[in-house]
Amino acid sequence: MGTRTVEVLADKSALIQRSLQIVLEKLQTALAERGQFTLALAGGSTPKPLYEALAQQELDWEKIQVLWGDERYVPPSHPDSNEGMARLAWLNHVPIPAANLHPMPTDAADPAVAAQRYQQELQTLFQVQPGTIPTLDLILLGIGDDGHTASLFPHTPALQVQDQLITVGNKDGQPRITFTAPLINQARTVVFMVAGASKRPALREIFSDSADSMQYPARLIQPQGELWWLLDQAAGEELQAAHP
Ligand code: 6PG
Repeated sequence: MGTRTVEVLADKSALIQRSLQIVLEKLQTALAERGQFTLALAGGSTPKPLYEALAQQELDWEKIQVLWGDERYVPPSHPDSNEGMARLAWLNHVPIPAANLHPMPTDAADPAVAAQRYQQELQTLFQVQPGTIPTLDLILLGIGDDGHTASLFPHTPALQVQDQLITVGNKDGQPRITFTAPLINQARTVVFMVAGASKRPALREIFSDSADSMQYPARLIQPQGELWWLLDQAAGEELQAAHP
């Protein structure tokens, strides 16, 4: 298991600025070492200001590959789409080649087919054979109030999937496409961005010694590389006391 860093930032703006700083640091390292940066985006609302900040950066866009860590099973034009959110906040505003964007397909009648398609897309992008888990440079994640992450929801079959990169998640009967825990844990760096007091109860359990990972799936994320928890004060003040 890799390193774990917990930082509690004064407010959400400071959380976003710190997240941007880490993304740019990992970008620079990846380009220096490998000539390419592979980044998976979190969905939901928390990361949107980070994506807006990235839209203001002058970067080697042709060397950046953008993936999504999970997706609601809706078209990109749908207001719930994680792809749509990232395109509107960031990707439509920068000269990143279309071929470098790897949104999760949501147009197959069977979400399991879409999951398999995305898995094949990752295998091609990372040039790995089936059975080999590719190593992304950076995966951004959030957590829900229930302790889910990506679309790995409590007590769902997706939590048990160990032999796939991509699987079908389930939120209250609604299908999702999601990275599996093994794919996330293979990353060089994983950054959780967590804001708001509503996340405090889940954080307490995620950081506890004995909570059930099936109930709090974010506990499954124990990457071989760096694990960063970036929390705003509202979410993380209790932890700050426990992890000075
Ligand atoms: C999604 C996400 C999900 C998200 C958390 C937190 O598709 O919803 O990927 O895992 O990160 O639900 O969402 P907020 O940032 O909106 O609180």
